[in-house]
Amino acid sequence: MIIRPSAAWPSAGCRVARRGFPAGVTGSGRSPRPTAADGGAHTALTQRGARAVPAPLAAAVLASTLVLALSAVSAQPAPEQAPPADAAAVAQAQAEYDAVMALEPDLDNGREAYLTCAVCHLPEAWGSEDGTYPQIAGQLRTVIIKQLADFRAGNRDNPLMYPFSVPSILGGTQEMADVAAYVAQLPMTPHNGLGPGTDLALGAQLYQDHCVDCHGPDGEGDVRKHIPALAGQHYAYLVRQFEQIRSGARRNADSKMSEEILGFSAAEQSAVLDYTARLRPPPEKLAPDGWTNPDFPNFVRDAAGIRAKPPAPRQ
Ligand code: HEC
Ligand code: HEC
Repeated sequence: MIIRPSAAWPSAGCRVARRGFPAGVTGSGRSPRPTAADGGAHTALTQRGARAVPAPLAAAVLASTLVLALSAVSAQPAPEQAPPADAAAVAQAQAEYDAVMALEPDLDNGREAYLTCAVCHLPEAWGSEDGTYPQIAGQLRTVIIKQLADFRAGNRDNPLMYPFSVPSILGGTQEMADVAAYVAQLPMTPHNGLGPGTDLALGAQLYQDHCVDCHGPDGEGDVRKHIPALAGQHYAYLVRQFEQIRSGARRNADSKMSEEILGFSAAEQSAVLDYTARLRPPPEKLAPDGWTNPDFPNFVRDAAGIRAKPPAPRQ
């Protein structure tokens, strides 16, 4: 059984006092209803019972996928060589995002599509504490869709992630909708990677002054504007993204955020991201200790040592 939040989260409308995770998208129950926060585009998820992906199929899919995908790795430019954002690619990603948002996601298909992703992000979608792989479990559905569309349009570069985003591996808009809905409703790790814990008061102040308007007081993000939830993300991953956003290497960065963080020193960056990684998702979004994803009971973890590390950012 997948653990799902029992109580509905407060809607994005009640942002005045303590804002909760926006309702509707990341799973306010088995059949989320369209909400204002979701722009109404998201209708009830379909789920046809908890069928696990069979192991032989898993092995075959993984083997063929990896051969195809890893052969495409060399075609990807390294992040630091990224040319400026290409208007055609931005328009392409936006059109694909709109098309995906108009579809009704199917969790069963999403679970099957997720099999290839599990090689790196793990069956739980918790990524790795060292930040090599982000936690994507519990991320807002719109954010997952936007990032997938950006990777495949070439607006965001990563040599590991790119080949798994292309249509021949991931599929079309329906598969994007399905896998995003599946990932969004997975419970999050209770033990994400944290920073040194030395400057949390400074971090809290910086967060209030520079981040809260967009990412929310609890790091819950904004589903309508596809602003990522940051609460519970691995510290080291936050650091890598923050640096890539500041340097311009992450081409899909929000330009207002880039301006906002321009003057941050290394110490301030570490402080604010340590504070951010410690923001807790609501308890009903967290998995219990030791939880493993029952949808993949026979998953062989890192069978071929494929879960390789991407090159370290060189900023
Ligand atoms: C070969 C390893 C690998 C596989 C397989 C893989 N990913 Fe990733 N993914 C990564 C890495 C590495 C990153 C971080 C990229 C970066 O640092 O910019 C990432 C980032 C992401 C992000 C962005 C998260 C964020 O908050 O910024 C999403 C969403 C994502 N992956 C979804 C998927 C989905 C869905 C699949 C399956 C279709 C998948 N990934 C398969 C390695 C992988
Ligand atoms: C003006 C709004 C805005 C402000 C202010 C802002 N951000 Fe962001 N941030 C965004 C958006 C939008 C994205 C996603 C961009 C995209 O689509 O890829 C993002 C992405 C990120 C990411 C990457 C997350 C991921 O999962 O890939 C991190 C880390 C981050 N922001 C941290 C911060 C921190 C820390 C601050 C304050 C110091 C901050 N942001 C201020 C809008 C903002």
